[in-house]
Amino acid sequence: MNPEQHNNLDTLPDVVMPECPQRNLLRGQKALVTGANSGIGRSVALYLAKEGADVVVNYVFDDASAKEVVDEIKRKGGHAIAIKADVSNETEVQSMFASMLEEFGTIDILVNNAGLQSDAAFDEMTLEQWNKVINVNLTGQFLCAREAIREFKRRGVISEISCAAGKIISISSVHEVIPWGGHVNYAASKGGVMLMNKSLAQEVAPYRIRVNSVCPGAIRTPINRTAWETPEAYDDLMKLIPYNRIGEPVDIGRAVVWLASDDSDYINGISLFVDGGMTLYPGFAEGG
Ligand code: BGC
Repeated sequence: MNPEQHNNLDTLPDVVMPECPQRNLLRGQKALVTGANSGIGRSVALYLAKEGADVVVNYVFDDASAKEVVDEIKRKGGHAIAIKADVSNETEVQSMFASMLEEFGTIDILVNNAGLQSDAAFDEMTLEQWNKVINVNLTGQFLCAREAIREFKRRGVISEISCAAGKIISISSVHEVIPWGGHVNYAASKGGVMLMNKSLAQEVAPYRIRVNSVCPGAIRTPINRTAWETPEAYDDLMKLIPYNRIGEPVDIGRAVVWLASDDSDYINGISLFVDGGMTLYPGFAEGG
């Protein structure tokens, strides 16, 4: 391959993700991924399973898509079950955790992924839209994290399994720091997630519990379809992404595996931006 070709911005090749070798980094660990029946959550569930974790595929709508993720994990020799629960409902979250503990015995990894958008101009936003987004994106992460922390503290470290008593990886967003007009409820929920996680990380670190966030930029999923599905929209999106490609769900799956594994054992309370440079103020590449 001629390296000069790649210096021409118009002829950058399409991204081809090399398959990572399977390392069994999470062998013997039990993971719960919320909102795991589509998009980022689905990829995270598949990657955790690939590294040897047993996975609970949480979902709230569409039984068939959750079953499809479970079946795919099983086809590849993994172990997974689907559990339906609305993460913003305390009773449903508690019974999901009870079912998981009954089935898997414990939890080592929680991936707080379930999230949604309900966009509107601020003066047109209903209280229902505000509450829905805060309830799922922020309160939902609180409710799941609380149940996980209770079990991590009860069980403590089992060194054959992991250096840590438990790991929470929260799927936040670049919008925990980038303001986003027209999406104020969403940005507020992710800003809340940021300080919830950093404060929680500080509180539970002495128990050897790690709490970190992954902050995706624009990832090709149904939540932001309008931002990438036409060539015009894609070109516009690229103005915000110095790395000049959209993110793929696997970009997030791999980052989550690393934060869940002992390879990142000394890392606690971070926000890991997986965004192709979206948080680098791309407008300043030529302006300012
Ligand atoms: C949002 C997407 C958006 C991305 C970058 C994500 O958190 O859910 O809709 O494309 O941030 O702006």
